[in-house]
Amino acid sequence: MNASPDATDQKVNNFAYWNTIYEQEESPRWHIGVAPALKQWLETSGAKPGRVLVPGCGYGPDAALLAGHGFDVTAVDFAPLAIERAKAMHPQARIDWRVADIFELPEREHFDYVYEYTCLVAIQPGRRAEYAKACHSWLRKGGRLIGCFYNHGREGGPPFNITREQVLKLFEPLFKIHTLEITPHSIDRRKGHELWADFEK
Ligand SMILES: C[S@@+](CC[C@H](N)C(=O)[O-])C[C@H]1O[C@@H](n2cnc3c(N)ncnc32)[C@H](O)[C@@H]1O
Repeated sequence: MNASPDATDQKVNNFAYWNTIYEQEESPRWHIGVAPALKQWLETSGAKPGRVLVPGCGYGPDAALLAGHGFDVTAVDFAPLAIERAKAMHPQARIDWRVADIFELPEREHFDYVYEYTCLVAIQPGRRAEYAKACHSWLRKGGRLIGCFYNHGREGGPPFNITREQVLKLFEPLFKIHTLEITPHSIDRRKGHELWADFEK
């Protein structure tokens, strides 16, 4: 895996890199609609709705699903075009859509949940510890980080591969790990490569 914070990786820190992809492709490859693992969790976990942050939300299908299940959703992406299209795609959803860099969010100890889906693998690998700390800081005590980590096993990125061991190394010092297992609930091309996570602050 490519974990060096080299010049190639640094391009992903700039919103313009992502916004240009959205300009060029109305339906980028990562836009898969609702993540099956989230749908499964909402239908089976019995989790109580609360305030949830969706970092790197893209077009927001998961954010809209969470809102439809009664969650109070803040969905953030620093690509303005992503948020513009998210709003147009989900006009009915009551969501606090924000064009912002997730590393500059002001909220501390605010959210009951952080929902992770292909955000960690989109950021520069050298910033992962910063991301784990940010997730911790956004959550209230007892809050949960839920979602998927994408262990696709390929070189390069984005998406930058992450293994189960690497996820544990980053998050175990900060969270109680309830679950970190490959989920059977994935789209075909990601099957066997998504680790479902449920971590508690
Ligand atoms: C691979 S896409 C995934 C989008 C969405 N989670 C999905 O699954 O459709 C990653 C998204 O994260 C956003 N992103 C990357 N780094 C970010 C940052 N530092 N702050 C806010 N958004 C960021 C990108 O603009 C992009 O929309």
